[in-house]
Amino acid sequence: MLIKLKKAWELSENHVLDESKYLNRRAILKSMGIGGLAAGAAFSPFGRPVFAAEDPSAHLYPVARNHAYVGGRELTPEKIATTYNNFYEFGSHKEIHTAAQALKIRPWSVKIDGAVEKEMEIDIDDLLAKMSLEERIYRHRCVEAWSMVVPWSGFALKEFVKFAKPTSKAKYLVMQTFEDKSMATGQRQFWYPWPYTEGLTMAEATNDLAFMVTGLYGKPLPKQNGAPLRLAVPWKYGFKQIKSIVRFHFSETRPKSFWEELIASEYGFWANVNPEVPHPRWSQATERDIATNKRIPTQIFNGYGDAVAHLYEGMSKRERLFM
Ligand code: MTE
Repeated sequence: MLIKLKKAWELSENHVLDESKYLNRRAILKSMGIGGLAAGAAFSPFGRPVFAAEDPSAHLYPVARNHAYVGGRELTPEKIATTYNNFYEFGSHKEIHTAAQALKIRPWSVKIDGAVEKEMEIDIDDLLAKMSLEERIYRHRCVEAWSMVVPWSGFALKEFVKFAKPTSKAKYLVMQTFEDKSMATGQRQFWYPWPYTEGLTMAEATNDLAFMVTGLYGKPLPKQNGAPLRLAVPWKYGFKQIKSIVRFHFSETRPKSFWEELIASEYGFWANVNPEVPHPRWSQATERDIATNKRIPTQIFNGYGDAVAHLYEGMSKRERLFM
């Protein structure tokens, strides 16, 4: 995410992975006597943490692919999608995958509150047992103008909404990330409005495309990608796709999300992908595929207009497509 308030917050989108750093880190771990499995993470031959070794949901994957959802271009290699991340709780750069291994993903429960028939708290493994898991290939487009294509595993958000039993007062679904400064050192940066918060209208949350992600590449979701539960709404910019969710609040009023709270003029509530509405500081007309480094034209609603354009009818073009 690129923001302008403080110089130190600004990062280059080109802050790319340097494999030698991993090899180096691997050598350091080895010299410390820490082998292939360390700090609760599984490591690939390159020393990259791939997924949490302690994840008790590992036996659930891989799940059957839903062929209704195809990426339309080459899948991004796992190595790239799991080492080029935004997760400000663990740092404001792209290489947070190592720091994110500090995230403790069990025990993990999610709270469901607000305008619901009955408020509750449910353990993540109990929730996984209740939902129908499937794999969907989605395009993923960040507001910073890079993109990838990834196979998410998880369940339809509308199935979760049905389970939560919202009342007719619920107009928005607000989601929040955990808050724990001792684990997530990025949260010590007090100028950010923690916890990370995002929201959808109920119509968006119950759209077929809205997906709760619990796995990636046929395995449990890596910590750096938002384990154990994150959102995928592929017609919106990536910052809407909140990671490591602990609370679902059904609200009568529209929430202010994390980035909107920081800079509303740059990161609006709707955040629908739109090549015609530039970010105030850069164009959104094209995007860089992080696997090939090639620039490709950005599609309206990230190419998912058939499924979602109707949700924004009657709104002004600028409002519905960006703000
Ligand atoms: N969720 C939390 N809690 N914290 C974050 O910093 N970054 C967002 C989103 N979800 C973020 C977050 C942004 S800007 C993007 S582009 C995506 O996560 C990146 O997801 P990925 O790392 O799995 O590609």
